Amino acid sequence: MKLFTGILLGAVAAQAHYTFPRLVVNGKAEEKDWSVTRMTKNAQGKQGVENPTSADIRCYSSQAAANVADVPAGSTIHYVSTQQINHPGPTQYYLAKVPAGSSAAKFDGSGAVWFKFHTTMPTIDKNKQFTWPGQNLYTTVNATIPDNIPDGEYLLRVEHIALHMAMQANKAQFYLSCSQIRITGGGNGTPGPLVALPGAYKSNDPGILVNLGAIKPDAYQPPGPAVWSDS
Ligand SMILES: *[C@@H]1O[C@H](CO)[C@@H](O)[C@H](O)[C@H]1NC(C)=O
Repeated sequence: MKLFTGILLGAVAAQAHYTFPRLVVNGKAEEKDWSVTRMTKNAQGKQGVENPTSADIRCYSSQAAANVADVPAGSTIHYVSTQQINHPGPTQYYLAKVPAGSSAAKFDGSGAVWFKFHTTMPTIDKNKQFTWPGQNLYTTVNATIPDNIPDGEYLLRVEHIALHMAMQANKAQFYLSCSQIRITGGGNGTPGPLVALPGAYKSNDPGILVNLGAIKPDAYQPPGPAVWSDS
């Protein structure tokens, strides 16, 4: 009986974890999992990153993907999730331009190269709980690749930060992926502020170590830099 309970609890815990193996650009999904998106270390186990200063916070991967996706500036993008994204917390998107002399299939994303282009804020639902856009879906929220971004190869990073245990240090769970993309039809904007990952997040950032029961929704501060505004 005890064993049976343990198995049940294990199954529930695994369902609450997820990965983002497939990028969707203007409604067209990556042909198969992990073809332009770099396979993450939790592809099997699904557990999130809990230490926001660890190397895993960047892409959570140890291998490049085989392909690079063409993504026109202005595209709508999102990711398919392997499980329902059922925890409260923000979804954020970042891009990093591949430096001259490297390529999207090789660049490791090191240095102050990342800018944020989308984040999400909570509201209160009818049960007086925090709820975020996209919560309880099997896809991440949509975001738009900025129109004015310079053309070239980039790493695209998605993260969903699960905050249900975030009142304890290093208990927020980061679910994330990086994809290899080539942006076309962009402009001459200067994206920023640029940050390094790890580097941009600390364990005690107010958006990472947070008791959702003790703040109002509009007081939530998504971690990391401000969203780039290209206007
Ligand atoms: C997200 O974008 C896709 C196209 O990629 C579209 O089909 C879908 O309706 C959008 N979802 C929302 C909530 O706007």
